[in-house]
Amino acid sequence: MRIAVIGSNMVDLTSYITRMPILGETLEAPDFTLGCGGKGANQAVAAAVCGTDVLMMTKVGSDIFADNTISNFRKYGIDTTYVQKVPDVSSGVAPIFVDESGQNSILIIKGANNHLMPADIDAGEKDLRECSLIVLQLEIPLATVYHAIAFGQKHHIPVLLNPAPATKDLDIEKVCACDFFVPNETELAILTGMPTETRKDVEQAAASLIERGLKNVIVTLGGRGALWMTADEKQYIEAYQVNAVDTSGAGDAFIGCFCSSYVQDRDVSAAMQRASAFAALSVTRKGTQMSYPRREELEDFLKPRVS
Ligand code: RIB
Repeated sequence: MRIAVIGSNMVDLTSYITRMPILGETLEAPDFTLGCGGKGANQAVAAAVCGTDVLMMTKVGSDIFADNTISNFRKYGIDTTYVQKVPDVSSGVAPIFVDESGQNSILIIKGANNHLMPADIDAGEKDLRECSLIVLQLEIPLATVYHAIAFGQKHHIPVLLNPAPATKDLDIEKVCACDFFVPNETELAILTGMPTETRKDVEQAAASLIERGLKNVIVTLGGRGALWMTADEKQYIEAYQVNAVDTSGAGDAFIGCFCSSYVQDRDVSAAMQRASAFAALSVTRKGTQMSYPRREELEDFLKPRVS
């Protein structure tokens, strides 16, 4: 089984902070990491680590980061046939701030990611048609996202859309053809204009998306688990309780692992369970991709414990 990720890559510059500096202030932060990130790339790496063959379609800039990003994909065995360099443009970069509770705030400068166009999808048609799932996020132009969904529909390939970062410009009617819509609770609130504080809030907001025509809505809720909702049923997956040091990239870890598991046997519930474990392990370490567990670690974590 092979999946295609049509999406972003970024260079993550993560500062571990005690608080945000105020305007005009210089403040020392205790730690820093530099790593490969971007929601698309993170999801591709997570799926590859979980044992799935991945085709990545993305664009890097013409700077010192480009070759490192490409060799990072290759290190994980990801097919880089459709990873292209854009002249005179920077690669995507993401300054990330992680506080002492492990929560993150992220800025993104999309750079070359803004140059991934609908025509790039058409150029990759022959290889994309062989894939069992297309995975999308919103760090590339919306026109490309809509085109990828239409491509999936035309070729009977299921599509998963992670509407992140959320934007009110997203036309829900245009993305209804996707099979899975996977926001976190913050993105769900932005997209629906509804509160998502309590379980009931989350269910009502997710239900409003189902009413608008989405088929499977999976809401990742961090330490509160994940909700899967369809027109007929709803199901919660509880979160694993771990000591979180850095939650950045955890949603991508969940999605990449979910995709890897789902394409094997189409069991949504089992895929969510596995994805929840993979994401839980990732938050126990610093960084985005660099925090993802090896497959053996995941299997070990999932083994039933004898008490
Ligand atoms: O979801 C986490 C990711 O968001 C980071 O890797 C950063 O690059 C931004 O894209």
